[in-house]
Amino acid sequence: MSSIRYVLDGEVRTVSRVEPTRTVLQHLREDLGRTGTKEGCAEGDCGACTVVLAELDGAKLRYRAVNSCIQFLPALDGRALLTVESLAERSGHGTAAGLHPVQRALAESHGTQCGFCTPGFVMSLFALYKGQPAPDRKAITDTLAGNLCRCTGYRPIVDAAWTMYALGRSIPTSEQDWLRAPAGSTSRAAAASEAALARRLRAIRRRRGFVLRHPAGTFHAPRTVAELAALRERWPGARLLAGGTDLGLWVTKHYRPLGDLIAVGEVAELRQVSMEDGCLAIGAVVSLTDAFDALAHHYPELSELFRRFGSPPIRNAGTLAGNVANGSPIGDSIPALIALGARLRLRRGMARRELALEALYLGYQETALEPGEFIETVLVPLRPPGLHLAAYKVSKRFDQDISAVCGAFALTLAHGVVRAARIAFGGMAATPKRATACEAALSGQPWGEATCVQGAAALARDYAPISDLRASAGYRATVAGNLLRRFYLETAGQEPGRPCRPPVSPLRVGDVQLEVAG
Ligand SMILES: Cc1cc2nc3c(=O)[nH]c(=O)nc-3n(C[C@H](O)[C@H](O)[C@H](O)COP(=O)(O)OP(=O)(O)OC[C@H]3O[C@@H](n4cnc5c(N)ncnc54)[C@H](O)[C@@H]3O)c2cc1C
Ligand code: FES
Ligand code: FES
Repeated sequence: MSSIRYVLDGEVRTVSRVEPTRTVLQHLREDLGRTGTKEGCAEGDCGACTVVLAELDGAKLRYRAVNSCIQFLPALDGRALLTVESLAERSGHGTAAGLHPVQRALAESHGTQCGFCTPGFVMSLFALYKGQPAPDRKAITDTLAGNLCRCTGYRPIVDAAWTMYALGRSIPTSEQDWLRAPAGSTSRAAAASEAALARRLRAIRRRRGFVLRHPAGTFHAPRTVAELAALRERWPGARLLAGGTDLGLWVTKHYRPLGDLIAVGEVAELRQVSMEDGCLAIGAVVSLTDAFDALAHHYPELSELFRRFGSPPIRNAGTLAGNVANGSPIGDSIPALIALGARLRLRRGMARRELALEALYLGYQETALEPGEFIETVLVPLRPPGLHLAAYKVSKRFDQDISAVCGAFALTLAHGVVRAARIAFGGMAATPKRATACEAALSGQPWGEATCVQGAAALARDYAPISDLRASAGYRATVAGNLLRRFYLETAGQEPGRPCRPPVSPLRVGDVQLEVAG
């Protein structure tokens, strides 16, 4: 039996005989008495529980904010965990001068009132502080999209994000350690202390997979694809665990035992994005953050959809393959991937097969994955010439909300005539689904008003949406047609490849900035 090993405040900690689905938050608050990290929603929505994980990324360290309430403890293995106490204790207790620059900036900008949300904001801002040397306002508000504050209001918190860098840089470089040095610091002292942390992480890095045995279930964490494939064949009843942003909620909200788990997160071969035969090949362990970066590079039209997917901590932990495999009818990446003609490379033991993404979904929570099979790679074709593309997410809130409807449109035009159309919607059926009748109505037709009307009418043959708490069937049907019309209005006369509309821009109203949802 193995133990979980991680670094906390410079020391290696070992945790044994633990239930694999114990959350990082439970461990912090109940086992270690570190109650600075708060529990608000227990489902990844409010950000009160945000912590930062530092992990080796080649020779460097990478800092990721994650929601500790839905991360299982084994996710710490081989990483350094940073909580709000790590910042305060290491920076010196008690005096304002001793606070970490992020904490001091929040205090001096009056960015806290009751303080419940503050540890989460501190940690999200700390991840930004270590990750980006000069973020603009959009990067700051994106960073904070997963943190809710009920009393202070966001302006002082955004102000703190500007001032934390100046406070950090005002520390003499000889006195900066890696914790207090902002991204881009040239301090040798900071580099040396960061190198020491990296050495500690290398020392606990595993060469082989590990297993945790517990009466509630066995947890396997293979390190190679071959090992993963063998385990998956041998334990077809075990559940695959990737980032846990779906599975975590089964435990924290539904109190469902997960039984045996096979975690894919440590399989380095599956953490790569590469080019393969005219496709972007996105390994099953690539986080949503990294997958979306790679996809947005080729398809900038999708940037806004990606930005509105969960929050940075969710995108840091969750994977693209997890979103695809989960197969939720409102999985937001899926309509766009179907519209782009994505395929999946599936593996069982030594055997591989490819499947068009839309063929994965057989019914509500039913997929074509066979026992012992798993997604190895998501293959997304590179941009064909003449492609017009758009994806629209319709939800009640701009940030961090679940779609009522999500539509994606990919059209290839030649001389104003639709040569090929791929259209898919989420929220319109029991699974994400391609709109084949609508596609047929558009194909071969001039891309004009009349064709658009015919396409919208054809959507009634593709979908019979239901009413639920997010939207009525009638609303969904109307919105779907309107989204096609919007796509038409935005693309008519446009050069292909340009984002259909400029990115959402903040409007200044007095001293407050508002964002206009699409
Ligand atoms: C607060 C919050 C906000 C969210 N916002 C959004 C949103 O805006 N849009 C949206 O679409 N989703 C959203 N989600 C859902 C979730 O984040 C995504 O579905 C995510 O991509 C899941 O990936 P994961 O790696 O965390 O999957 P996990 O939770 O680890 O696994 C999900 C499922 O996929 C299976 N699985 C994982 N990897 C593989 C594989 N390689 N092969 C086969 N099966 C596999 C697992 O067994 C499990 O059934 C949100 C979730 C939370 C908690
Ligand atoms: S407690 Fe709300 S996100 Fe974790
Ligand atoms: S300060 Fe009270 S919730 Fe933010």
